[in-house]
Amino acid sequence: MSYKVVIAKGVSEVGKAYLLERNYTVIADATPERIRDEIKTCDAILARTEVYTPEMLEEANHLKVIAKNGVGYDNFPLEKATERGIYITNAPHSNAVSVAEHTLSLMMALAKNLLISHSNLQIGNFDVRNQIVNCELEGKVLGIIGYGRIGSILANKASNALNMNVICYDPYVNPKAVIPEVKVINQLERVLSRSDFISLHLPLTNETKGLISGRELSVMKKTSFLLNAGRGGLVNEADLFFALKEKIIAGAAIDVFEEEPPAPDHPLLSLDNILVTPHSAALTVEAKDRMALHAAIGIDEVLSGRQPSWPVNQPDLS
Ligand SMILES: NC(=O)c1ccc[n+]([C@@H]2O[C@H](COP(=O)([O-])OP(=O)(O)OC[C@H]3O[C@@H](n4cnc5c(N)ncnc54)[C@H](O)[C@@H]3O)[C@@H](O)[C@H]2O)c1
Repeated sequence: MSYKVVIAKGVSEVGKAYLLERNYTVIADATPERIRDEIKTCDAILARTEVYTPEMLEEANHLKVIAKNGVGYDNFPLEKATERGIYITNAPHSNAVSVAEHTLSLMMALAKNLLISHSNLQIGNFDVRNQIVNCELEGKVLGIIGYGRIGSILANKASNALNMNVICYDPYVNPKAVIPEVKVINQLERVLSRSDFISLHLPLTNETKGLISGRELSVMKKTSFLLNAGRGGLVNEADLFFALKEKIIAGAAIDVFEEEPPAPDHPLLSLDNILVTPHSAALTVEAKDRMALHAAIGIDEVLSGRQPSWPVNQPDLS
């Protein structure tokens, strides 16, 4: 009897093909409701951002691995998985370039007022060109919070391709891993107060939840912009709404929300100094294929009794 693997809806076909070639029984395109049913009998799940609760894992008597089609794993109850002997794996080398490029696109769009120009021109207001003030990125300060895979690629592109001055805050970074063009600063507030653009590229944990709240927003320059393609919970959304409405900062671009999808009447969506995308920073053709392949490799490794290449926990299998 072959192992049963459930694949969440929206995962690239590459993951399914990899698992079928290895003779797994595959249930593809599973909705969160279907996953909730199948979790009781399946051996592995190739998951996206749907939320898994400790109670769901309590019922999962055959489950050996949940592989994340991506990087962030804050939607899994890690402790419960470890206690139940379930591996959580992810795909850390799959989408960093895509997210860094997306962040650069958001930054460009803010600096050049692309969204407001486009929507005004659509309603015939050519004179918007006299109402907006665009700026260059060259020479501006980019403050990167979290100098990991994504943060470091962004730093490289921003300093070497755009001639921006890049500074970063990351208490865990190995200074030897930082390129010479980037200055590491050990105090978050100093990075916030010096930067024209702040970009968040760190995981959501108990330590980082609400990292950017009212106090942090108040030390940023009035002319500065906040970019968040990390995780929604890193920013206190009510405080960000206040800061944007009261022009404490100039604007923001957000790919991720505390709750996804955000309600249509979410206050942040009503502002004209914010640019939003639907958690799509990693959703390029290239990264989608890589995420699915790397997650499927994690599943095959665990189910065939090997140590997974990208584990995020170490379950007790004794
Ligand atoms: N929008 C998207 O679609 C998307 C896609 C991929 C990843 N992400 C998010 O981006 C995050 C970063 O991804 P990555 O691949 O670069 O991860 P990474 O693990 O390579 O880098 C994270 C960095 O954050 C640093 N960090 C941890 N705690 C910190 C703190 N308190 N202050 C400052 N820095 C801190 C770490 O030292 C590390 O260098 C992920 O955790 C994920 O949540 C979002």
